Amino acid sequence: MTAQLLTNLTTKTNLAKLPRHVAVIMDGNGRWAKQRGLPRIEGHRRGAKTLKEMLRYCKKLGIETLTAYAFSTENWGRPQGEVNFLMTLFERLLQKELKEMEQEEVNLNFIGDLTPLPQSLQQEMRRSTERTKNNRGVFFNVAINYGSRHEMINACRAIAKKVQCGELAAEAISEDTIAQHLYTSASSDPDLLIRTSGEMRLSNFMLWQLAYTEIYVTDTLWPDFDGKQFDRALESFQQRDRRFGKV
Ligand code: FPP
Repeated sequence: MTAQLLTNLTTKTNLAKLPRHVAVIMDGNGRWAKQRGLPRIEGHRRGAKTLKEMLRYCKKLGIETLTAYAFSTENWGRPQGEVNFLMTLFERLLQKELKEMEQEEVNLNFIGDLTPLPQSLQQEMRRSTERTKNNRGVFFNVAINYGSRHEMINACRAIAKKVQCGELAAEAISEDTIAQHLYTSASSDPDLLIRTSGEMRLSNFMLWQLAYTEIYVTDTLWPDFDGKQFDRALESFQQRDRRFGKV
């Protein structure tokens, strides 16, 4: 089939060869705000808008899943005021955007250890996942209090318990067994990881799941990452020769 093109996409984007799952490390909110003489929290506010636009764009293109790294297990080390602001922002966004997400057929899920989060936020999370669980328009995973090593430790513990009680033989542990015990058991592995603001690291994000993912790093700060930038990332992805370790 010849490549179909959407009018607002650059002519090089091939809709027949899109990633199924895009993951994003949304970096540079603080620097974006600083460059404008604004408080860091303003950068997060703008960053949330960018994320909403990206989710819309994914749905429009037919990308099945978007996973966004919103708060890492290390982010608790930020100034208390910024942590509190982010928790309140997540909660308000869930309250404000739920209706629209329902209408737009978004299936919302959270990955991470949610238990240390404020009770009122956990409640909003439960409500929004429950209300969107039958949607199939686009799958949206938000990583909050997420750390990949922590996720793997949890998986090891759960698998070890099954071995201990005789439910599983140690020799039967496979890649699938591990994948099924991660927070992401319901998703395919990301095909494309985008990291903004030029940092060349994974920052404890989906270390297992990113084994064969194509990585795209841009100097653009997250609040400035728009549709055009996303097209560029998709074009770069489409030029890669994905061999998965084969020749
Ligand atoms: C990284 O930029 C950004 C964050 C840690 C927060 C990201 C959160 C959002 C964009 C809100 C999304 C909301 C929902 C509900 C998913 P940084 O602060 O590390 O920037 P810097 O490196 O320039 O300091």
